[in-house]
Amino acid sequence: MNKNKFPENFLWGGATAANQCEGAWNIDGKGISIADCTRLKKNVNKKDYKALHGITSEDIKRAMETEDTVEYPKRHGIDFYHHYKEDLDLFQEMGFKTLRVSIQWTRIYPTGIENTPNEIGLKFYENLFKEMKKRNIEPLVTLHHYELPLYICNNYQGWYQREVIDLFLKFCKTVFNRYKGLVKYWLTFNEIDSVFRHPFTTLGMVPDRFPEEKFEEVVYQSLHHQFVASALATKCLREIIPGAQMGCMITKTLSYPENCHPENVLLALKDNRKNHFYSDVQVRGEYPQHILNEWKRKGINIVFEKEDIKILKENTVDFVSFSYYMSKISSINEEGKERVSGNISSSVKNPFLAITEWDWQIDPVGLTTSLIELYDRYEKPLFIVENGLGYNDNIEADGTIRDDYRIQYFKEHICAIAEAIEEGVEVMGYTPWGCIDLVSMSTCQMSKRYGFIYVDLDDEGRGTYKRIKKKSFDWYKEVIESNGKNL
Ligand code: BG6
Repeated sequence: MNKNKFPENFLWGGATAANQCEGAWNIDGKGISIADCTRLKKNVNKKDYKALHGITSEDIKRAMETEDTVEYPKRHGIDFYHHYKEDLDLFQEMGFKTLRVSIQWTRIYPTGIENTPNEIGLKFYENLFKEMKKRNIEPLVTLHHYELPLYICNNYQGWYQREVIDLFLKFCKTVFNRYKGLVKYWLTFNEIDSVFRHPFTTLGMVPDRFPEEKFEEVVYQSLHHQFVASALATKCLREIIPGAQMGCMITKTLSYPENCHPENVLLALKDNRKNHFYSDVQVRGEYPQHILNEWKRKGINIVFEKEDIKILKENTVDFVSFSYYMSKISSINEEGKERVSGNISSSVKNPFLAITEWDWQIDPVGLTTSLIELYDRYEKPLFIVENGLGYNDNIEADGTIRDDYRIQYFKEHICAIAEAIEEGVEVMGYTPWGCIDLVSMSTCQMSKRYGFIYVDLDDEGRGTYKRIKKKSFDWYKEVIESNGKNL
């Protein structure tokens, strides 16, 4: 037993995204999404962010010409589409209070431009949410998790064209109307701050379709469209489902100064401020002055329509959610220094931290820091909707998976949350990423496993899809049962 105190209604659970687990990419009326076009990258240098996330028009063309699922593993995922009841049973057994899922836009509107939604797609999520309710699992639903219809990518230049806001709102209205009574907690855009790190997955933008010198402006314009869409979706939610709650979602990219050199401290402050800019707009309802100054300095012109400022101001979010995997280092002189990779781009290595097999730094203390920092900034409830350890788990001869390293990782991170709660931070819940093994977002590997539940499938899509409980399964069950006390 330890002294951890979590609120009684704390939402323990797990997190997934439809495009990484559902599979069934081209059946029951589903259209092709950008995720269906991302390729397996097994031997890419993990520090080479461009190699991991870069995409060309040629890549898209090639993806559209093939039905292959080996090179495009998100097309098969873990076949959650057909296994969801079995998977929900396992989540229920662990005592999940919530499960984060996303709705694939392409299951509801295959290209995004149809006037009538696809009933089979709507029915699938209705069944999913009803089955969750039956098991006392509260859905936490992301509306946009790297799953833009490919049609919009190809015909509207992703989020660059303003009309996409209306297409997105049509989708939102449809799902709000259909799932009112079933879903209370919603998130608009997953990791909205990733727009510059990977513009294809977040915005559906293919860099070679834009003049290089204009790309930064184009990304900011598309991001502005997402901000407006997020605010309008929030407005719509309040009208259609009174009492429902909308959250924004960022990647928490906590930056430490490399040392106490004042220039490093200032740089870290600026880097953190840049990360917070994305939530600032959605929580405070306006662009911070430093971004407006940056645009002026760089000659970036962003088109605002008459009502945009008012829309952003009047429709701010109810809570702030974020993913947290690692921290990074801000250094005024990076030259020749050892680096690590990560979901938030490569950074100078922190000598005080261990790294994962995929070269991501492990930093539980940084989670406490992030929670305190975000709470002091916004005074809004916080929700950690992603955190976890990607590991190539091994099945022992007796069929067990002894993932003690994962247990250790979660132990430390849960203690870190408890410490922030003790510091007065309001935390709504915790949903570890990939609570069941699923296809990696960045590398499309199956072998980068995050789950409490193992799925028998390898990087080439070979396997039985059988679900096997890992050692961490029973451990997490006990954590939830004791409300965070027994670790
Ligand atoms: C987050 C994404 O950035 O990181 C998830 O929201 C993703 O979609 C997760 O899966 C872990 O990243 P990866 O590349 O290990 O799957």
